[in-house]
Amino acid sequence: MEGIFVKKNKFVIVGSGSSYAPAIVAVLLQRRTDIRLGEIVLYDIDASRAARTGRFCELYAAENGGIPVTYTTDIEQAFRGADFLFVQIRPGCNAQREKDEKIPLSHGILGQETCGLGGFSFAMRCIPAILEIVGKAQELCPDAWILNYSNPEAMISEAIYRTYPKAKALCICDMPISQEETIADFLEIPHKELTFRYFGLNHFGWFTHIYDKQGCDLLPALRERVLSDSTVRLVNAEAVEKQDNYWGEMYAHAIEGFRAYPEFFPLVYLSYYYFHNQIVEDMNPEYTRANYVMDVREKVVFEDCDRCIAEGTTRSSALHAGVHGNYIVDIANAIINDTHERFIINTMNRGAIGNFNHDAVVEVPCYVGAGGIEPVSVGYIPQFHKSLMEAQKGYEKLTVEAALTGSYQKALQAVLLNRTVPSYAVGKAVLDELMEANKGYWNELY
Ligand code: G6P
Ligand code: MN
Repeated sequence: MEGIFVKKNKFVIVGSGSSYAPAIVAVLLQRRTDIRLGEIVLYDIDASRAARTGRFCELYAAENGGIPVTYTTDIEQAFRGADFLFVQIRPGCNAQREKDEKIPLSHGILGQETCGLGGFSFAMRCIPAILEIVGKAQELCPDAWILNYSNPEAMISEAIYRTYPKAKALCICDMPISQEETIADFLEIPHKELTFRYFGLNHFGWFTHIYDKQGCDLLPALRERVLSDSTVRLVNAEAVEKQDNYWGEMYAHAIEGFRAYPEFFPLVYLSYYYFHNQIVEDMNPEYTRANYVMDVREKVVFEDCDRCIAEGTTRSSALHAGVHGNYIVDIANAIINDTHERFIINTMNRGAIGNFNHDAVVEVPCYVGAGGIEPVSVGYIPQFHKSLMEAQKGYEKLTVEAALTGSYQKALQAVLLNRTVPSYAVGKAVLDELMEANKGYWNELY
């Protein structure tokens, strides 16, 4: 290769003040040769958050590969010349997430960042912000690939693909692969030796088959074990390592969901709909996931950053790179090296699910290469799943409409289509309270 010019890639993390950013940087550095890493730019609108993770990552990179890392609040400087934008923003940070979770719970319905009306509220904040970012990218770095992790991905993907159909944007979520890895561990087979078939919407999907290298579908045997043994548990290794019991409970509910509807293995998030009342009863309306994230995860990561910055070295860092960072870098690698690996991605349906709206974003396996994605044809899906998805999709599309048009009517219609909303009175009351709590974040509804 000597003498041949090899283009190095510029990666930008948008929303780099997040506690997830250092782990993504760590994976980029680990994979620097494969992905021809040239530089990393960390971009955030909040200068002090940008500086904390930014200074940590600068030091970390200097000690782990010597790749230049800079941080900035200047979008032009960040985006010009970019090859990849990794977007993971949270307008209003976890303080607004806390309101999204607590307001619905105070009315007796699910309070969660992506499902139920918490997800609606988050979408109303995030859609305008994400469209501004993708718009700027079209202007400043139109050839860059945009890999979006921002939530609620179901509605963010609808908004991006509808507004910028030509953008090189892929909307991704690490939940399906995290669940695949958990199932693979349970089956005691390396994840790479299994091929999972799957369909659905983001945080609303099902695994239909699990093929091994011999072409044998292991889902029926898994079903058999779950149905015949009430002690079966799925253990997510990463959550155990982080002592984060939330995922243990989520997987327990997913097993219950598989027992209740044994046709396909549900994504863990479906439990919020399958077992809404039971889960809400078990939630503490005074202390939600956002509180845990702020009190534990953010605290651990940010204290780690502060300490290392003070020490002038990251040698004592407890930085943990897991599925979140690996997944997004794996997808970038598949594009850069044209690997045609298979990943579950949110994409316009266009026939991938034969009997579902073709103009709707769905979450399906796709082959990924230098030319982008090729969705796998899933065929026809059963009536039950199709109907659940249709109602959910109606809610998602109306939420996007409400965010884009500012129509209160559309917002109310969206809310009333959500499965967690039991009545007009509850839906409207929660909508009005969320609207009040999000002044300055949502586009005004009229
Ligand atoms: C999974 C989901 C993400 C979600 C995250 C929540 O990774 O795929 O969409 O944001 O879990 O994690 P947290 O620890 O913030 O509750
Ligand atoms: Mn997700």
